[in-house]
Amino acid sequence: MFDETIPIKATKDIVIVRQKGRELAILYSFSKAEQTRFATALSELTRNVLTYAESGTCSFLVKSANRKSIIIARIVDHGPGISDIKLALQDGYSGGSGLGLGLPGAKRLVHSFDIESSPGYTQIDISISRTIR
Ligand SMILES: Nc1ncnc2c1ncn2[C@@H]1O[C@H](COP(=O)(O)OP(=O)(O)O)[C@@H](O)[C@H]1O
Ligand SMILES: [Mg+2]
Repeated sequence: MFDETIPIKATKDIVIVRQKGRELAILYSFSKAEQTRFATALSELTRNVLTYAESGTCSFLVKSANRKSIIIARIVDHGPGISDIKLALQDGYSGGSGLGLGLPGAKRLVHSFDIESSPGYTQIDISISRTIR
């Protein structure tokens, strides 16, 4: 089950989502670099929600067992949806006026990245994981 859900409605929420992701990464002893990568991916996805859907949510889920920790963030909105996911994931593709690096950039920064989208709904799950040796 995902725990507390953070609303995404205004620019300040980018910072809130980013900080929550970083806090969890710190709590589960991810490296400084991983903390920053996760936080940066969260920023981009949160920014897209504000730009393309106006509002949405971000929920976090942590699974920690048998020396393995995984932090999952689920970003959901009820905007127009992403009609061509493959295209949206290409470097430099922007349906708006952005640089088109948000989605592909975020994908490169995390360990897993899954998009589900249809008109009126977009859900993006990202995760980072680590194993204690
Ligand atoms: N949450 C979303 N809802 C609808 N469309 C989206 C969403 N996120 C991304 N997109 C679409 O995917 C394209 C690529 O996103 P991104 O890589 O972040 O580039 P940029 O935001 O710079 O255009 C966007 O231009 C937009 O058309
Ligand atoms: Mg973007």
